[in-house]
Amino acid sequence: METVKMLVGSVEEIDPKGSRTIQVEEMEIALFRLSDGEILAVENKCPHKGGVLSEGMVCGRMVHCPLHDWRIDLQTGAVQEPDTGCIATFPVEVDAELGLVYLQLQRGQAATNAKAGA
Ligand code: FES
Repeated sequence: METVKMLVGSVEEIDPKGSRTIQVEEMEIALFRLSDGEILAVENKCPHKGGVLSEGMVCGRMVHCPLHDWRIDLQTGAVQEPDTGCIATFPVEVDAELGLVYLQLQRGQAATNAKAGA
């Protein structure tokens, strides 16, 4: 499957220890800027009941869903035990010199995942 590199904005547009969202096809993606400065991107929808993960609290590399507190690993997308499930994650590339953030997406990936999560 073809990989598409998409410019999604600048690092400064994401608050330190905060998040912002972007829309790609039918999927909303949350970009999280961790306390160490790393940026991770995941599908912005909890696999439990659709909680908006960008509104959750981040501890280390885990986001706590704001609805029922499931913990989801922002690196792997895996829900932590005792709960189960997974969300889509997207490789992030940062151009440190220009301060720009890129996502790597598989062509058609966003549409496929949106259908799977419906
Ligand atoms: S919707 Fe996320 S834990 Fe329930």
